[in-house]
Amino acid sequence: PDIIAVVPAAGIGSRMQSGRPKQYLTIGQSTILEHSIASLLAHPAINRVIVALSPDDNYFQQLPLAGDSRILTVTGGKQRADSVLAGLQAAEPTEWALVHDAARPCLAAEDLSRLLAVSRHSRIGGILAAPVRDTMKRSEPGKDAIAHTVEREALWHALTPQLFPLTLLRQCLERALNEGATITDEASALEYCGYHPELIAGRSDNIKVTRPEDLALAAFYLTQRHN
Ligand code: CTP
Ligand code: MG
Repeated sequence: PDIIAVVPAAGIGSRMQSGRPKQYLTIGQSTILEHSIASLLAHPAINRVIVALSPDDNYFQQLPLAGDSRILTVTGGKQRADSVLAGLQAAEPTEWALVHDAARPCLAAEDLSRLLAVSRHSRIGGILAAPVRDTMKRSEPGKDAIAHTVEREALWHALTPQLFPLTLLRQCLERALNEGATITDEASALEYCGYHPELIAGRSDNIKVTRPEDLALAAFYLTQRHN
């Protein structure tokens, strides 16, 4: 498909509590950001990646990646959605936009392929998602007591990448941001506008490095992948 990839990498990684933004922590030979971008560029359909960086970013220019002609950088924004939108606005017009977290270094090639296949039959797009495994409880409003068990069969963890028609995604993000909606991933912007993107079952080891203990887990998954 005719496609641009956007990687929001403008966050500070506060929950990681490390000296630098988590996307610049190293696993093996390269940073988490480099692993995440490499997993996209490994696919023959992805030849352009737009990376949204913090205005204070001092790390990206030091990476070998900075000289790669397939990569364009833009300045990200206050929220993740602002960073994604900045990336989309810099994109040459393509039919599809793929968005992937900078902090998700363990994306498997077969999952990316399965998500990209959505473009063959959908005009709305879809996301990688993992079925929830634990029994899920909803709490009583305002207290830590169980109100009831939530039907697990209908629950999924939303992952990235997420794939949408570029124009539709841009319109939905703009509207959701303008109207102050809570947007935690791209799909939530489409949902806000009444669309129902597809859920594509993906591997649960495609984790977002969020807290300190996630780093060793991601390193382990990456080692397994390359052996
Ligand atoms: N992100 C971004 N622009 C922002 C906020 C987040 O581009 N204003 C990016 C992050 O760099 C990350 C992805 O969105 O790749 C997912 O966000 P998250 O895991 O929440 O990262 P941070 O916001 O950096 O971490 P934290 O919430 O712990 O501060
Ligand atoms: Mg965040």
